[in-house]
Amino acid sequence: MSHRVTLIPGDGIGPEVSDATVRVLAATGVAIEWDVHEKVGEAAVAEYGEPLPAHVLDAIRSSGVALKGPVTTPVGKGFRSVNVGLRQKLDLYANVRPCRSLPGIETPFRDVDLVIFRENTEGLYSGLESYDERHDIADSIARISKRGSERIIRFAFEYARRHACGPLTVVHKANILKLTSGMFLNIAREYSERYPEVEFNDRIIDNMCMQLVVKPQQFRCMVTTNLFGDILSDLAAGLVGGLGVVAGANIGDEYAVFEAVHGSAPDIAGQGKANPTALVQSAEMMLRHLGETRAADALHRGLVEVYTEGRHVTPDRGGSASTTEFADRLSDAVANHA
Ligand code: NAI
Ligand code: MG
Repeated sequence: MSHRVTLIPGDGIGPEVSDATVRVLAATGVAIEWDVHEKVGEAAVAEYGEPLPAHVLDAIRSSGVALKGPVTTPVGKGFRSVNVGLRQKLDLYANVRPCRSLPGIETPFRDVDLVIFRENTEGLYSGLESYDERHDIADSIARISKRGSERIIRFAFEYARRHACGPLTVVHKANILKLTSGMFLNIAREYSERYPEVEFNDRIIDNMCMQLVVKPQQFRCMVTTNLFGDILSDLAAGLVGGLGVVAGANIGDEYAVFEAVHGSAPDIAGQGKANPTALVQSAEMMLRHLGETRAADALHRGLVEVYTEGRHVTPDRGGSASTTEFADRLSDAVANHA
């Protein structure tokens, strides 16, 4: 059986890391029929007058699954971020960010294995901002709904149960934000009674940040609201080597978009220097989502092998391999494990 997947290579280093990832995926032996959409972002504005054209959204609605490279967002002007557009239009409410130590990637920590579930659609990022001209006061509303909280919390508990990975920690600030964060915490507590097999606890966000940089190995899964999740997921990425190596996914009840969390790196685009590891790790998540567990395991073992050996790594990891050389070595390793 072959899987149909929408591929959005993106711009900047996007096409380079996407090519590499597609080749590594082919080495797993899983048949994937790619539906490629090269024009999103700036290129789509030039051709179709909008950064995220309807036919790209329809393609994802039809395949259900997309793999996406980075897309440049102009700062302060121009069009709205394609990533935000995708999350809202496809209702991808769960931002899933696994952060796992890889051998050969030097960091102060070993054996970190975390997954963060961040609510992706509401909270302080609801877009409810206003300015009172008379008093020069700016307001930003952190809207949290029961439905929005329940679905991300359920998602996290389901994941923790399916992967037998506890404890699940709900991260909040309910001591101060009694209604918003308090509701989120209470709902998580209610769900913990429905999932007695999942070990459950809670932490206040500031204490959580401190504990994460002291002893990250004590945590496994975390679920939290939008702003806290945004910050925590980058903090956790830093524990395992940074944004260049970690995977990410935006998942809803109907569709899933797997993406590199780094940007389009215009400073190195087109030079064969990009490290495709982040998108490869997102592709591993995608394989698990598609039920291709053995292929996902082979991909992971391949990555561990190539990094342990350390002879074919890209410049950002202190090596001299090009994107293609890295992808070739990784494809061989993956094919051996498949
Ligand atoms: P960036 O992640 O593109 O680059 C930051 C630094 O990390 C640069 O020095 C870059 O060369 C390096 N880097 C990033 N990914 C790398 C990789 N795979 N291999 C080797 N080195 C890598 O972040 P920046 O510069 O803030 O953003 C550039 C553009 O990307 C902006 O237009 C931004 O809006 C967009 N962006 C898009 C994202 C997405 O589509 N998911 C996410 C973040 C930023
Ligand atoms: Mg962020």
